[in-house]
Amino acid sequence: MVKKILICGSGGREAVFASRLAEDARVYAVVGHENPGIVDSAARSGGAHAVGDAGDPDAVVDFAKRHSVDCAFVSADQPLANGVVDALLDAGIRTAGATRAASRIEWDKIYSMGIVERACPEIAPFSLVARSDKEADAAVDDFKSRGLQVVVKPEGLTGGKGVKVMPEHLATHGDAARYAKELLARGRAGEGVLLVERLEGAEFTIMGITDGRRLALAPATYDYPYRHEGDTGPGTGGMGCFTEESGRLPFLSDADVERCRSAMERTIQAMRDEGHPFNGILNGGFFKTAAGIRFMEFNARFGDPEALNVLAVMEGSLSDMVAGLADGELSGDASRFAKRASVTKYLVAKEYPGESERAVPFSVDERAAAAAGVDVIPASCVRVGEGRYETIRKSRAIAFGAVAGTVVEAAGMVDAAIDGHFEGGLEYRRDIGSAANLDRLRAAVPAAA
Ligand code: GLY
Repeated sequence: MVKKILICGSGGREAVFASRLAEDARVYAVVGHENPGIVDSAARSGGAHAVGDAGDPDAVVDFAKRHSVDCAFVSADQPLANGVVDALLDAGIRTAGATRAASRIEWDKIYSMGIVERACPEIAPFSLVARSDKEADAAVDDFKSRGLQVVVKPEGLTGGKGVKVMPEHLATHGDAARYAKELLARGRAGEGVLLVERLEGAEFTIMGITDGRRLALAPATYDYPYRHEGDTGPGTGGMGCFTEESGRLPFLSDADVERCRSAMERTIQAMRDEGHPFNGILNGGFFKTAAGIRFMEFNARFGDPEALNVLAVMEGSLSDMVAGLADGELSGDASRFAKRASVTKYLVAKEYPGESERAVPFSVDERAAAAAGVDVIPASCVRVGEGRYETIRKSRAIAFGAVAGTVVEAAGMVDAAIDGHFEGGLEYRRDIGSAANLDRLRAAVPAAA
């Protein structure tokens, strides 16, 4: 019998979940806006969608019950932090995804650094916690006396916008102390600030699929968080991403990937031992430095755009993976990925990551893009006619993605499809996945002393 699978959320990530699930399951979705990709996949598969708050546990359970779904897949930060998984499980619905307690690894940066310090101390950067102005001043003085620059992180979820780094956002140690105190004043009572040493090297993520015991790694992903070419401008949710045919990245060795796997396995073990078994996607954010791999952060979900890349090269059935996780059994399919490179690029309004004053119209010839081997993945946009869309103002509008023999080839296919089959006032980063950019990345990791 065809499975009925529920998802929640309406970004590019969920559009890809919907399209891969629709290959062999019926898709049911609670969406914040009518993402045309999700709406089409749900309708084509014989499922349904409802516009509502995907982070509201009661609304999601109500929709799931109304449609008698077989299982659910929750992989977005706010629904996880709000306990949507717990509510679905309490309602007797098999669910893949982390409970509120397990997703603390994402929504509490101080907790996750603590787990890493206990479970895999060899990758933990130097860090201190401040819960008062006095502690913030003392912590920053400590970093200064060690000759370390500081990254200041709020304890809770901020959609990637609260983290500030020296010297890009905080020129001096005094600025770091001031920002830490500003966060303490702004945060909820008792909420702290995490101060971490600034690392030199290259940042990357590895997403692990886990039933709480076994772990399958997806290809490592390289995300471009900065708004403008040359990694300049403000931080964003991610302007694009690539994976390599090797499953590694230009600056990673097989041994580096195995170190990440080992750290993630010990983290999962520690969470099980501490009574909060983790189910779903453990998304490891790491740094490759001259001294080796260092931990940056964990997320409890697929990244966006990282999911667009990884699911483009996943050979098995996403619905089997989700059903397996919901039953506590990681399926063998979860670790089968094509040995191909993938590139994704988001198109965004000029003002992004700020909010545009009005919706931006644009058009895409999806058939022509598909004929050229390029996927078009709608995100923060709605359809206003055949091939015509409008942004919904505050996030990434639409992504183009391609799979090919090499990253440079896939990036070229994406650029050509945007040049030839897209019209409108949106912007994107042409340098993502270019040969020059990959050379720069290879050189980004300082040689070991
Ligand atoms: N691309 C970063 C994230 O999904 O958090």
